[in-house]
Amino acid sequence: TLEIQRELRLRTEVIRSLPIRDPFSHKGSHGKGLLIAGSVQMPGAAFFSAKAALRSGIGLLKVSVPDQISAIIAGRLPETMFMPREEMNFEGVTGVAVGPGLGRATKEATLVRRVLESCGSMPCVIDADGLFHLKGLLNLLPKRSVPAVLSPHPGEMAYLLETSVSEVEQHRFSISQAFAKKYKVYLVLKGKYTLVTAPDGRQVINPTGNAAMAKGGSGDVLTGILLAFLLQHKQIMDAVCNAVYVHGAVADYLIQNGHSKLDVLATDLIDALPPVLHQLY
Ligand code: APR
Ligand code: MG
Repeated sequence: TLEIQRELRLRTEVIRSLPIRDPFSHKGSHGKGLLIAGSVQMPGAAFFSAKAALRSGIGLLKVSVPDQISAIIAGRLPETMFMPREEMNFEGVTGVAVGPGLGRATKEATLVRRVLESCGSMPCVIDADGLFHLKGLLNLLPKRSVPAVLSPHPGEMAYLLETSVSEVEQHRFSISQAFAKKYKVYLVLKGKYTLVTAPDGRQVINPTGNAAMAKGGSGDVLTGILLAFLLQHKQIMDAVCNAVYVHGAVADYLIQNGHSKLDVLATDLIDALPPVLHQLY
């Protein structure tokens, strides 16, 4: 029988566990993240994740995107540094996110493999097309000393498990728990009431978020917040639950402050991070 321990993420718990910025800290104290994302077809995904990470307190961010799109991102987000794909390395990097807008070309699977093999002792987020490539690499997950964070929507979860979306949605608690335990990962099963499951099976339900987020790019924003929070929290579970909470809280804030559920863009979610974080601190 499945022993399921579940709780709702409370605002007081988020406020209690958000990282405190040490007055004597410097950029190196808040993590050096590497984001491997984007393609010529989907440059925006890399931009959304990168900007969300920077707005969520990350100390330094390097972005690995195809050369053709680096100028677009640099022009809109001059705070980022770049790492050409051919020169990809993990020197000095303390956390990685891979996947948003990466594309499904077979050669990109190597990027996911390298992250899993070379970054086993640092936090890693795998999302979107990174999950597509992960399908053939699942056996590498339990070997990691620091469990990876996977953030599938129900379609991506169904793909990984070779089942249907309705099956995932009907049995989200048991399916998530079996997967997180089997592969030793933190699993973020997205959707209304996003469910976070730890490798030990513990589950947390997120109360924030609304249907304004049902638009391309919302998930890419979460990936950036996840990367930034993983590099600043002491506990992985707190980092993941707080990232999911803040991501939803931003959409709730927007519909209470001048937006409708139709008009919210990924860019708006990122732009609303400052007032939402301000309220939580
Ligand atoms: N209520 C609350 N939250 C919602 C709702 C809703 N009705 N609809 C969506 N969300 C939230 C989800 O919980 C999740 O955090 O919005 C986010 C959507 O994330 P994704 O499904 O990953 O969407 P997207 O940003 O478009 O992904 C970009 O990656 O997943 C692939 O195929 C996808 O190529 C696309 C890319
Ligand atoms: Mg997505």
